[in-house]
Amino acid sequence: MNKKNLITINDLSTLEILEILKTAKKLKKSPLSKKTALKDRTLALLFQKPSNRTRISFEVAMVHLGGYVLYLSPREIDMGKRESVKDVARVISRYVDGVVARVYSHQDVEALASYSDVPVINGLSDLEHPCQALSDIFTIQEKMGKLKGAVLAYVGDGNNVLNSLLLVCAKTGVNVKVATPKGYEPQKAILENALKFAKDNGSKIEVFNDAQEAVRESDVVYTDVWVSMGQEDERGKRLRDFENFQVNEKLMKCAKKDTLIMHCLPAHRGEEVTDVIDGKNSVIYDQAENRMHVQKAILLKLLGKR
Ligand code: CP
Ligand code: NVA
Repeated sequence: MNKKNLITINDLSTLEILEILKTAKKLKKSPLSKKTALKDRTLALLFQKPSNRTRISFEVAMVHLGGYVLYLSPREIDMGKRESVKDVARVISRYVDGVVARVYSHQDVEALASYSDVPVINGLSDLEHPCQALSDIFTIQEKMGKLKGAVLAYVGDGNNVLNSLLLVCAKTGVNVKVATPKGYEPQKAILENALKFAKDNGSKIEVFNDAQEAVRESDVVYTDVWVSMGQEDERGKRLRDFENFQVNEKLMKCAKKDTLIMHCLPAHRGEEVTDVIDGKNSVIYDQAENRMHVQKAILLKLLGKR
């Protein structure tokens, strides 16, 4: 079957990633320049978890490209409970031209893609958040004028956001220094993959259990929540375990004066981050805006050709 999915960053080559960034840059300059590119195409947003950025940016992106969107909350579909993932995939493929799925289990988005006849995009699973990571390197390129050689320090949980960031950075030559508490390091398989790509692209990936070590000499300090959606039961333990991994003024003093601060949002101020994200080095709102420009480039790539 001739369709392309975006379930993991591994679905894209370095060249394809750079193409997406190039298209997004053009679209950011002229947001309505492709007003009919997806005319008569319909995108279903099948979400098991809440969303602000992912949902809205995909909806607006689709409108700007001339297409139509259906937002399907768990109440409508209840995938895997009301009916099987396979039946959802087979049926929905008969109606729409593409699906963005936000799921708890990564296996569900993989199954959806394998049974669907139309492209499936991972709008966040417990393992990856590829659209976020693509948009994040777009922001880094926009702010720094380069990707190769840039140094990103990620402080916090070895979660879905970090997994996709590791892969996308490794594929585009960005160096990554990760700091997590012991036991919260990124998954071994992802790390091994990222190390392999980093070697091919001349970048370095290092994992520490010390936040200060990671942020030293970094160009970007990135963090995400300590308790991801679906991990609410672990909240008490996680807040204790991550105590020394907050991105705050004190930690930022170990970085350079102009080191950027990034966060995929939503932020839990007082937990993983303080009001440093309101300071002049923070680019969090540009980062959020860029989701929309990059979603457009992703949609054009996957749904643009019949
Ligand atoms: N960053 C992100 O994916 O935000 P939402 O959960 O609001 O979509
Ligand atoms: N790691 C977070 C990201 C939210 C965009 C979560 O999965 O809840």
